[in-house]
Amino acid sequence: MSRLRCLAILLLPAAATATAGTPDAAAGAALYEAHCARCHGANMVNDGRSFDLRTFPKDGHDRFLRAVTQGARLMPPFGKRLTPDEIEALWRFVSGS
Ligand code: HEC
Repeated sequence: MSRLRCLAILLLPAAATATAGTPDAAAGAALYEAHCARCHGANMVNDGRSFDLRTFPKDGHDRFLRAVTQGARLMPPFGKRLTPDEIEALWRFVSGS
C-alpha cells in the first residue's frame, strides 16, 4: 500500500506537466514575442507587412526550420541567434502543436 502511494507521488508531477499543455509552446510564445512579433505581429496577428504565420502549413515543420534558421528573402536568418531547441519551441507555438 505505502509502495503504491509512493508511486503515485512519483508519477503525479509528470502527469501534471503533461496535462498542463505544452511547456514548449509557452516558451515558444515568449520567444515569438521577443524575436518575431515586430515583423509578424503580436500573437501572429499580421498587418500584411510579412508572411501571415497563422496560414503557415501545419505540416510544414521542415520548411519552418529552414526559413527560420537560414532566412527566406526578406525574412532574416535566426540560426545564429536561436538554438535548435528554441526554434523547435517556436514551431510548437506557430503550429499550435
Ligand atoms: C525583420 C522582419 C522579420 C522578423 C524579425 C521575422 N520575420 Fe519571418 N518573415 C519576414 C518576411 C518579410 C517574410 C516573408 C518572406 C518572403 O517570402 O519574402 C517572412 C517569412 C517567414 C516564414 C515563411 C517562410 C516560407 O517558407 O515562406 C516563416 C515560417 C517565418 N517568417 C517565421 C519567423 C519566425 C519564427 C520569426 C522569429 C524567430 C520571424 N519569422 C522573424 C520578416 C521577418
